[in-house]
Amino acid sequence: MPNDTGLVPPLPRADIIAAALPGLTAMRKTLPAMLFYDQEGCRLFYRITELPEYYLTRTEMALLPTLPTDIVPSGMRDGILVEFGGSDETKARFLLDRPGRPFSAYMPIDVAAESLEAMRVRMARTQPWLSVLPVVGDFMQPLRLPGVAGRAMGFFPGSTIGNLDPVAAAGFLRSARQSLGEGARFLLGADLRKSPKVLLPAYNDAAGVTAAFNLNVLRRLNREAGADFDLASFRHEAVWNDAESRIEMHLISTRDQEARLADTAIRFREGESIHTENSYKHRQETLIQIVRDAGWNLLKVFQDDAGLFAELLLQA
Ligand code: AVI
Repeated sequence: MPNDTGLVPPLPRADIIAAALPGLTAMRKTLPAMLFYDQEGCRLFYRITELPEYYLTRTEMALLPTLPTDIVPSGMRDGILVEFGGSDETKARFLLDRPGRPFSAYMPIDVAAESLEAMRVRMARTQPWLSVLPVVGDFMQPLRLPGVAGRAMGFFPGSTIGNLDPVAAAGFLRSARQSLGEGARFLLGADLRKSPKVLLPAYNDAAGVTAAFNLNVLRRLNREAGADFDLASFRHEAVWNDAESRIEMHLISTRDQEARLADTAIRFREGESIHTENSYKHRQETLIQIVRDAGWNLLKVFQDDAGLFAELLLQA
C-alpha cells in the first residue's frame, strides 16, 4: 500500500531472510519463488515473456481480447478489480478499459515493490479516472476488503496459479473468494499440460534468460540480505516431473561449498540442488476440480485454438 509519501516501500531485509532461511536450512533445500521478483528479477521475467520459447504470455495476450464483454457482469458499476500477483497492468487493461468503464478502483497485489510503484505513477497518467491502490506483499495472505460485496472481480492471469501446489492453489482461491465476497467474479489464466518437448525449452531457453532469472535469486540474497553465495558455483536446471505434472526449476551447486546468510552457515555438496520453483501444468479437468474444491462456481472455460492455455471464469 502506498505510505504517507505516496511511495510503495520495498520488502524489508528481515522479511527476505525470514522467507529464505527455513528452506535453505532444510534437508532438501528450497527457496520461495516470490523472492525472484526484485527489480532485476522483474526485468528478467519481462524478457522471458518475450522469448520465442516462452509461449505462455503471447498465447494469453492473444486470448484475452477474444473473451466476450459479459465476463464482467453487465450491472457492475464502481467496481474494484483485484489483481493477484499483478506488477504490470497490461493484462488488467483488457478488463479496466472495457466499454462503460465498470471499475473505478484497481488493486494490484505483488511483492515487486519497484514495479508496483512504477505502475502507480504510470497509471495516474494513463487511467486518471481510476484509483490505483497497490499492495506490496504476498498475495497468498488473506485480504480485508470491507464493503466490496457484489462489486469485486479477482484477476489472476499468467498461470501464476501453476506456481502453487494444488492444495495451496485451492487454499488461495478459497481465501480470495472470502476476501472478494458474495457475488464476486474471478478470471483465472492457467497454462495447460502438454508435451515436455514444448514445455522444457520454455524454461530452458537458448539465450539463457531463464538461467539468469533463476540465479538472480542468489544475487538478491547477497545484495539485499547480506548473503555471500558464489554465483559462479551454481547452475540453472529445469526438469519435467511427469508424475506431479510440473516443471521444476533448480539451482545446482557445482562444487562442495558453504555460503552464509544472517550468520547461518549453509553447506552444499557438489550436485546438491536448491529447488526454486514449481510450475504446474494441469489438465483442464484438474483445474476445474481445484476451483470447485475452493468453493467457486465455474461459469465458462475459454481456450486458444491450439489448447495451450485456458482462462476460467468463476463466480462466487
Ligand atoms: C510467473 N510464472 C507463471 C512463471 C512460470 O512460467 O511459472 C515464472 C517463470 N519461471 C521461469 N520462467 C517463468
